[in-house]
Amino acid sequence: MNPTAVKLAPSILSADFARLGEQVRAAEAAGADRIHVDVMDGHFVPNLSMGPVVVKALRPVTKLPLETHLMIEEPDRYIEAFAQAGSDTLIIHVESAGDLRQTLRRVKALGKKVGVTFKPATPVSAIEAVLPDVDLVLVMTVEPGFGGQKFRHETLAKIREVCELIGKANLNIELEVDGGIDATTTPLVVAAGARVLVAGAAVFGAPDGVAAAMGRLRQAATVA
Ligand code: DX5
Ligand code: ZN
Repeated sequence: MNPTAVKLAPSILSADFARLGEQVRAAEAAGADRIHVDVMDGHFVPNLSMGPVVVKALRPVTKLPLETHLMIEEPDRYIEAFAQAGSDTLIIHVESAGDLRQTLRRVKALGKKVGVTFKPATPVSAIEAVLPDVDLVLVMTVEPGFGGQKFRHETLAKIREVCELIGKANLNIELEVDGGIDATTTPLVVAAGARVLVAGAAVFGAPDGVAAAMGRLRQAATVA
């Protein structure tokens, strides 16, 4: 596997928020391909995290794309605010959007990339119809809501299924995974077809620092 074929998206949910800018710069210096921003509203998931102000504050700190994972009810109410704050990609949960296709189109109309995602219990068939409308599919490999959870191995079959659908339709869609990604699970998800890996705890929770942690993930992706 060509190491440049797999992209790394550190999730700032596990970063030290007292020095968030510094942590994002460290991730960029260590070769991150994008920064993953987890937005939670305490309703769609039982946790609260951050809003557009954080995206706005990070925008001048990094040249990397900022991808925003919206784990919120009524995403339509907030997509414009995130677009204006500087998000490059908005990722929408199929379980949260009223009219999913319309929400995806609204994001595109704002000049942004759009992704669709779904919880572990939601079948791949729930996103199949909108594949032609998205730039990215994010397969959740843990239940959304918290960083540092254990990878759910039953999601590997879903990664393979999405990979096949994208291949069959010959669509230019990135296949990303999110949750419990570390040096042990990386070879599994890459072998299943994932090409963008979100990692929070494995990057920002590593005792030997962000650069060493990202080196381990790259290495694990290479040997997959
Ligand atoms: C979970 C979030 C993830 C999370 C991943 O709800 O969507 O992006 O930060 O964290 P780790 O890599 O720690 O499982
Ligand atoms: Zn996420």
